[in-house]
Amino acid sequence: MATTRATSFGAWASEYEEWRPTYPDAAVDWLVPPNGGRVVEVGAGTGKLTDRLVERDLELDVVEPDGRMLRMISARYPSLRVHESVATSLPLDESSVDAVVAADAWHWFPKAEAAAEVARVLRPDGWLGCVWHVPVLQHDSEWRALRLDPALAPPDDLDPLDRLGLSTGRAEQRAFRWTWMLTPQQWRGFVSTVSHVRLLPEDECRTALRETEQLVERACAAAGKTTARLTHDALCVRWYPEA
Ligand SMILES: C[S@@+](CC[C@H](N)C(=O)[O-])C[C@H]1O[C@@H](n2cnc3c(N)ncnc32)[C@H](O)[C@@H]1O
Repeated sequence: MATTRATSFGAWASEYEEWRPTYPDAAVDWLVPPNGGRVVEVGAGTGKLTDRLVERDLELDVVEPDGRMLRMISARYPSLRVHESVATSLPLDESSVDAVVAADAWHWFPKAEAAAEVARVLRPDGWLGCVWHVPVLQHDSEWRALRLDPALAPPDDLDPLDRLGLSTGRAEQRAFRWTWMLTPQQWRGFVSTVSHVRLLPEDECRTALRETEQLVERACAAAGKTTARLTHDALCVRWYPEA
């Protein structure tokens, strides 16, 4: 597999597993069929969403192109059906699943081709469910600590179809807010797994991570606390191929 930014995550799979968050139950419940059913998770990474899916009454298949990440899922769930494949080539029959889900991953897929493949495997009335952790930042220092530019943040009222980068079908969205309390070291760990930082030249990456840790240390010291809040919306979109 040729490495691009989309497929860069496997090179730091254990850090990814250590520092990335899972997804809130309310969001997961909104993404999957309420009364069980067959679900395929695509772009599963090290299994941050998989951990929540296996707890539910679902018949589950997991697809991820990076074998290093996929093996971490198999190690935790030896009997789970896992497939080393991509979103544009799902190893599933036509009309065979009730939902396809993707966590912090859809934006990395070739969207029109992936949507066609999703539509192929979905049963009638089935849907694609996507979730992203979108930071909800109030202070300039939080943006700086995440190495993000507020001017480049997507608008809050982005249409759900636009969010998916699709122009066909019908989509709806909901946000589930949650808060994480992180030490400066944990902030640094999290930021070290986001690709816009991780793929900087090595010395720039090291400097960026040191600055993140220092910013959070200062915020903690000012508040007299050992942790600083990081708020996210688990932003969920459900897409139905037929409009
Ligand atoms: C940011 S990670 C998200 C991983 C995991 N779902 C999570 O929530 O932590 C994006 C994942 O998408 C996978 N990916 C990238 N391109 C893909 C494609 N075309 N088809 C399927 N998965 C892909 C990457 O290998 C990576 O595991």
